[in-house]
Amino acid sequence: MTNAQDKKVFVKTYGCQMNVYDSERMADALATKGYKPTQQMEEADLVILNTCHIREKAAEKVYSELGRIRKLRDAKREDGKGDMKIGVAGCVAQAEGEEIMRRAPVVDMVFGPQSYHRLPDLLDRTDKGARVVETDFPVEDKFANLPKAKKEVTRKRGVSAFLTVQEGCDKFCTFCVVPYTRGSEVSRNVAQIVAEAERLAEAGVREVTLLGQNVNGYHGEGPDGKAWGLGRLLYRLSEIEGLDRLRYTTSHPRDMDEELLAAHRDLDTLMPYLHLPVQAGSNKILKAMNRQHTYDDYVRLIDVIRNARPDIALSGDFIVGFPGENDEDFEDTMRIVREVTYASAYSFKYSPRPGTPAADMKNQVEAAVASERLYHLQDLLNQQQRDFNASKVGTTMSLLLERKGREEGQLVGKSPWLQAVHVQAPEHMIGEIVTVHIDNIGTNSLFGTRLEERSTIESPILTQSEGVSI
Ligand code: SAH
Ligand code: SF4
Ligand code: F3S
Repeated sequence: MTNAQDKKVFVKTYGCQMNVYDSERMADALATKGYKPTQQMEEADLVILNTCHIREKAAEKVYSELGRIRKLRDAKREDGKGDMKIGVAGCVAQAEGEEIMRRAPVVDMVFGPQSYHRLPDLLDRTDKGARVVETDFPVEDKFANLPKAKKEVTRKRGVSAFLTVQEGCDKFCTFCVVPYTRGSEVSRNVAQIVAEAERLAEAGVREVTLLGQNVNGYHGEGPDGKAWGLGRLLYRLSEIEGLDRLRYTTSHPRDMDEELLAAHRDLDTLMPYLHLPVQAGSNKILKAMNRQHTYDDYVRLIDVIRNARPDIALSGDFIVGFPGENDEDFEDTMRIVREVTYASAYSFKYSPRPGTPAADMKNQVEAAVASERLYHLQDLLNQQQRDFNASKVGTTMSLLLERKGREEGQLVGKSPWLQAVHVQAPEHMIGEIVTVHIDNIGTNSLFGTRLEERSTIESPILTQSEGVSI
């Protein structure tokens, strides 16, 4: 029998950055019950799958993973090594709820993203033999009720951290499950966010990425009792000592306001990188997607953003094969990509999601056609990414050193434009921001030399094939 002090939890995270953040919060909540994290599923007393429901295969992956976990649990029981509880959290949990209990009797708990502060309580209920489903949207403030991590725990997680400032979405793009799985838009208040950011900085975090499904729609209550926008929040966070880099994701083109643009213009701490999904180029498709902006609105907005911050790098999300998309519509997507030019991007084949309006549209696009379009789009986006990376060769830039690289004596850091950069540097420099000269590019990353090193090392040994992508 393991005693409560050495219980172990294994959390497997799927999906977006918010799930990464949430998995850490679950670990913090479980720490209050004596659970320590493990990387080995076999030795876990509790396994949690933090799931994503955004595209088709996501849910199926969860069911097959549950089959694998059942075997591990049974083997553990047979070997007399104790029991293993199994929980399903995240967006599949929220969307499927009871259905998971029916399909996977191995599962002890199913709980959605708004219930993480109740995790210790749910666990107590399973101790009494119950199988628990918790997918309400509770009225209490989840964030205020989540325990805080110890400083050492935060530091161990790295020098770059996520911080959720806004959750949920009221935009209802017709292809998307997020408004159903995360609920409607909620913004945390400024004081709570500042306190969390200060704690992160005190623990040695140098870079914070503010998260929200519609992060630039942020409108949390400020200390003056008024609603603050994201721009105002960024000005406030940039005053925190030790927090040298700020980022935010994901934004909607309709919510880029004046104050946010001013923040891009004025704040050195706000990194020159913006993920601003457009999804498609055709006005007909944008309308059917309920994106509420046109091709021209988006391109004009990019101009304004580039005027405010000329070195800004853009990233985006794209969907090909949305119902009704013909060759001409797809060509508009290629055209907007050529016109805007992206430093990086994510692109997907449209995947019908149950309960979303687009899933019931009549004119679904054949899978083979969508695959072909995706191939062309990705070819173009990859070319743009290579060009962007190549444009940095021969320049100097600041680099936040984050972790050890594969080579002896090598560290990997992050450029202002979210590129992975490899440099020779001793491990104790992790957490420092250094100036590097970019010598070369690999497949997914850059290779540089620290400026103070450059005069002493004539030809740094570089392995180009071992790119790390972020
Ligand atoms: N909150 C973010 C995106 C969440 S989902 C935003 O609004 O931008 C991340 C990306 O997944 C979306 O931008 C979209 O490109 C893609 N996506 C969402 N639903 C999808 C679907 N049904 N099929 C294919 N891709 C989808
Ligand atoms: Fe989904 Fe659209 Fe909301 Fe983004 S804005 S989360 S794509 S509904
Ligand atoms: Fe996936 Fe939910 Fe994030 S569906 S992308 S985990 S908000």
